[in-house]
Amino acid sequence: MGKLNSKDRIILAIESSCDDTAAAVLKNTSVLSNIVANQSVHEKYGGVVPELASRAHQQNIVPVIHQAMREAGVSANQLDAIAFTAGPGLMGSLHVGVSFAKSLAMAWDIPMIEVHHMRAHILAHFIDDEANKKPEFPFLCLTVSGGHTQIVKVSSPYKMEILGETIDDAAGEAFDKAAKVLGLPYPGGPLVDKNARLGNPKRFDFPHPKIKGYNYSFSGLKTSLLYFLRDETAKDPEFIQKNLNDICAGYQRAIVSFLMSKLKKAARETGITHVAIAGGVSANSELRDELKKMEEKLGWNTFIPRFEYCTDNAAMIGIAGYYELLAEHFADFNVSPRPRYDFSMGTY
Ligand code: KG4
Ligand code: ZN
Repeated sequence: MGKLNSKDRIILAIESSCDDTAAAVLKNTSVLSNIVANQSVHEKYGGVVPELASRAHQQNIVPVIHQAMREAGVSANQLDAIAFTAGPGLMGSLHVGVSFAKSLAMAWDIPMIEVHHMRAHILAHFIDDEANKKPEFPFLCLTVSGGHTQIVKVSSPYKMEILGETIDDAAGEAFDKAAKVLGLPYPGGPLVDKNARLGNPKRFDFPHPKIKGYNYSFSGLKTSLLYFLRDETAKDPEFIQKNLNDICAGYQRAIVSFLMSKLKKAARETGITHVAIAGGVSANSELRDELKKMEEKLGWNTFIPRFEYCTDNAAMIGIAGYYELLAEHFADFNVSPRPRYDFSMGTY
C-alpha cells in the first residue's frame, strides 16, 4: 500500500444501488483496489429485476469486499471509515450495502459515511488518475445514467446545483429500451453503441424533442422508434436484422445530439467552459467524441472519466466518502437506505 502518514485516510467503499455489487479501497484520492461484480442474471429479462438484484448482492458482497481489501493490501484496523451508497437506487439492493456497511462499522468500530450515488458519479473526476486532468470549479457536468439525466453546476465537492434534468425517461433508459425492442440483451447501451459505430446515422432520422430550458425528455424518442419499427416490420419482418447498425446509429445520433444541444446552451448561458460528463452513458463513444470536439469548436476544457469510473463502481463512492470524511460528515447507526435520496441533500 505504500507509506502512510498521519494525514492519510483509508476508506472502504461499498456500492449496491442497482445491479452491480462493488467495493473499493482508497488511500486519500488514490484507488488501491476497485472490484465490480456484474449481475448477468438480468440479461434475459431486458431490465433489472429488483428481487433478483438483491439476492445477487447478498451472494456477491462478501467475496467482493474481501477481494477489494486483499488487493489493496489493507487490514480492517487501517481503515478510517466505511463509505456506502445510501441512494438513490433500488430499495432491496441498497439495503444489502447499507446493512453490510453498518455491520462492519459496528464490528470494526469505525465511522460510516453515506454517499449520494449521482454526486459520486460527478466526484469520480477527482480520483487520482495519470490519464486525466481535473476540472476547475465551477464546472458543468452532464450526468447520464440508467436512472438520471442532469446538467449540474458543480461549485465544490459539496455544492452542486441541478440546472436541468429529464422530465421522463433517463438517457440510459432510452438506450436500454431501444435495445430491448431491437432484440439486444440488457444493458443495451453498450450494444447500441457498438452497432452504431458500424452504421450510417443519416439513413433513419429520429425527432429531436422540443423541451424548454435545460430539461430533457426521452419518452417521445423511444415511442417514435417503436412506431417506426412497427411500420417497417409490417412491410418486412426482417427489417431489424437487415438494418440493425443503421437504426442504432440514427437513434444514438438523436440521443447524443439532444444531450449536447442542452449542454451547449447551459455552457453558453452560464459562461462556464469547464465541462464534464459522468455516469454510465458517459461511456458512449459518440458522446465522448462529440464532447471532445467542443474543445476546438467552442474552446471548452472537457473532462471524460476512464471507462471503469463511468459505469457503476465503488471507487467513486470512495472519493465522495473522502470529501465527506474531510468535512466530518458521518452517518448514525439508525441510517437506512434512501431510494429517492434528494440530490440537494448533502449541499452545504
Ligand atoms: O451509471 P450506471 O452504470 O448505472 C446507473 O446508475 O444507472 O449507468 C447504466 C446505464 C445503462 O442504461 C447502460 O445501458 C448505459 O449506462 N451505458 C451506455 C453505455 N455504457 C453503459 N449507454 C450508451 N453507450 C454506452 N457505451
Ligand atoms: Zn450510476
